[in-house]
Amino acid sequence: MTEEAPVLELRQVDKSFGPIDVLHEISLTVRAGEVLCLLGDNGAGKSTLIKTLAGVHPPTRGEILMDGRPVHFSGPKDAGDRGIATVHQFGGTFPLMSIGRSFFVGVEPTKGWGPFKVFDRKKANEIAVQAVQSFGITRIDDGDRLVGGLSGGERQSLAIARAVHFGARVLILDEPTAALGVKQASHVLRIVLEAKRRGLAVIFITHQVMHAMAVGDHFAVLIRGALAANFRKGEKTREEITDLMAGGEAMAGLEASLETYMQSHEGHPPSA
Ligand SMILES: Nc1ncnc2c1ncn2[C@@H]1O[C@H](COP(=O)(O)OP(=O)(O)O)[C@@H](O)[C@H]1O
Ligand SMILES: [Mg+2]
Repeated sequence: MTEEAPVLELRQVDKSFGPIDVLHEISLTVRAGEVLCLLGDNGAGKSTLIKTLAGVHPPTRGEILMDGRPVHFSGPKDAGDRGIATVHQFGGTFPLMSIGRSFFVGVEPTKGWGPFKVFDRKKANEIAVQAVQSFGITRIDDGDRLVGGLSGGERQSLAIARAVHFGARVLILDEPTAALGVKQASHVLRIVLEAKRRGLAVIFITHQVMHAMAVGDHFAVLIRGALAANFRKGEKTREEITDLMAGGEAMAGLEASLETYMQSHEGHPPSA
């Protein structure tokens, strides 16, 4: 039996902006029905990496493969057409639009024919509400409500449901839970698991180790643009992951110097 090719794969990808080298020899595989958590401190290169995967930046060197075949995205639209969808922190939706309308921005269903085509509000609302509810968000039941009136978690849910409805195969979530409270975050995490259950490949970017551990099958830690660790669920503890994200040695060094300082100042911590 041959294993199914990964939906998406990076081979030795470098990304530079002029003289600035941001990503160094990144090799990663993203499989259908799996959640890959991308972890790393601010400035580690997470956004650059997902923009490279989503067709925003062409790689400087290396290869991107989809279903085992090399691909060259001409831009984000091209990557989107091939099923790579990115959902940004605030859902990327339009606060002054209704739920039904925002769901179909760019892909509006029509009734009638020829020059008489009009946006079918009722049908759009029905489809949008049904799509979101199928992810377990039953509080959204009126497609005429404005997106701006939804909570952060509901907006994320709407954006994810929309991407899945229109055929996304790879769902890239850039810090979807960063600005959310515990309850809201747990809704989003549940939706991530539902997307995985439906066979999508999910790339989940977060700073929050607990959120990553709640949904991740696979973990990749970026430090200064390089893959510092790449491991599967259960292979590392929460403490080990936290330490890795903080840059390991950097953190240990900081603790050691704080210890020395405390001893030489008879236990008084440095004033801020
Ligand atoms: N277009 C760009 N031109 C030059 N440098 C960039 C560009 N985009 C990102 N960088 C640099 O790449 C590094 C990684 O940034 P980024 O990918 O946004 O990190 P993260 O998302 O992990 O916080 C930073 O040092 C940033 O300044
Ligand atoms: Mg970022």
